[in-house]
Amino acid sequence: MLDGPDGCGKSSQARLLIDWLQGQGVPSVGFRDPGATVIGEKIREILLSPAHEAMTTPAEVLLYMAARVQLWAEKIKPALREGQCVVLDRWLSSTCAYQGYAGAFGMKKVIEIAQDSLERVWPDLTIILDVDLQTAAQRLKRELDRMEQKGDGYHSRVREGFLKLAEGRPDFAVVDATGSVEATHREIVTILQRRL
Ligand code: TMP
Repeated sequence: MLDGPDGCGKSSQARLLIDWLQGQGVPSVGFRDPGATVIGEKIREILLSPAHEAMTTPAEVLLYMAARVQLWAEKIKPALREGQCVVLDRWLSSTCAYQGYAGAFGMKKVIEIAQDSLERVWPDLTIILDVDLQTAAQRLKRELDRMEQKGDGYHSRVREGFLKLAEGRPDFAVVDATGSVEATHREIVTILQRRL
């Protein structure tokens, strides 16, 4: 699973990773969270619409979790059953870093809600693509969605949240994603070859 602050480049890396896995003969499929199901895409629209600036952090937690529960049931669980390798673009670590840490909801509370609602909470491997605020901002030269509009203070806490979450966890790896797309991809492949 790939995760990280907005502008870290994880969607491009997810595509490259799926291509690489398939090239290695590993049947692989990718999903974005929130999204990838009809219900999840609708929830995503609600979450990211700049018109919904009144949305509270607890409402965000529950909506992200609802989209994720649906994604698990409709797409991830069946894919794993078929023996596919599932590459995720974001997962619970995002709710921990954004709502739990930056939004001050509490990472522990986020994880408790996940444990109550998801059959499987953590992926085998979580790769955090780490970027500084400046590099991330340069990569987001388009109209920003509601989460991206939250400002520098919020986004520097998001980054801190991801790094704190990864601390001391053998199932997490942090990759410096400030370099080229190719360099970051090579680093991700090296980690995968070492860990899986
Ligand atoms: P994306 O643009 O990377 O697909 O992610 C959508 C936005 O939602 C992004 O700004 C990060 C944010 N987000 C959360 O705040 N909490 C979450 O649990 C997830 C999955 C995403």
